[in-house]
Amino acid sequence: TDSATDATPVKKPALPDAQTVTFVKHWTDRLFSFRVTRPASLRFRSGEFVMIGLMGDPDPKTGKQKPLLRAYSIASPSWDEELEFYSIKVQDGPLTSRLQHIEPGDEIILRPKPVGTLVHDALLPGKRIWFFATGTGIAPFASLLRDPQTYEDYDEVILTHTCREVGELQYGKELIDSIRSDEMLEELIGEGFHKKLRYYPTTTREDSPKMGRITDLMRSGEVFADLAVPPLSPETDRAMVCGNLAFNLEIKDMLEGYGLNEGANSNPQQYVVEKAFLD
Ligand code: A2P
Repeated sequence: TDSATDATPVKKPALPDAQTVTFVKHWTDRLFSFRVTRPASLRFRSGEFVMIGLMGDPDPKTGKQKPLLRAYSIASPSWDEELEFYSIKVQDGPLTSRLQHIEPGDEIILRPKPVGTLVHDALLPGKRIWFFATGTGIAPFASLLRDPQTYEDYDEVILTHTCREVGELQYGKELIDSIRSDEMLEELIGEGFHKKLRYYPTTTREDSPKMGRITDLMRSGEVFADLAVPPLSPETDRAMVCGNLAFNLEIKDMLEGYGLNEGANSNPQQYVVEKAFLD
């Protein structure tokens, strides 16, 4: 007999909007990334997020289960066959306390309705784009940095990533390394595209070559000196921001101070902001 027929039958998806986990990597005790199958019909713009999650515990009274969903930026580019996500692990977080244990073959729920403001459509044309991220806020930029349009639209692309510790920079570091050596991207975008890409990682609570919050490094002018670029101006610079709430509010104020205005899908301007998900 054909040995394939002896194999366990393929499990039917048990969850609504189920997708199958294909890969999981734990980066630190607080961070992991994973990949899942992509619904054939799912189209999204780089930088958008979807709702993902798991089935919640049964209601003690009715026994009914409801999905437990959170907004996650899609970290993979729109041309990728699978979807990638980058997540924090919160030990008492309703979702991530459980999600951190997923393994290849497991199912998660993914509502196929991408939305969000960190999209090229929400910005006016410019010369230089800044991606300002803290922590898991790098996720939408992992998608945008692998999107050919980012390099078609701008002469210079600068990713800043501020984390507490060095280990928390590793996902971004490997992302940048993989982009710089990606021949398919080079074919897609054009030779030498990665010369446009600048990467500026900083840490705040562990020694690294560049210490400090990006906001402080902007105020002191250090980041502009290091990168040999002028401070942001509404004529040349565009910005996308994704991080914790305090960071978003502080940098938003600073961007307004440089003369940039907040944009939206319906009203493109000079910068856009989105909150990184925290369970
Ligand atoms: P810090 O260590 O000085 O708080 P978190 O893991 O808490 O989300 O933080 C991620 C990074 O964002 C940390 O390096 C943290 O620095 C930094 N951060 C927190 N608040 C702000 C802020 N208001 N402006 C700039 N960076 C911030």
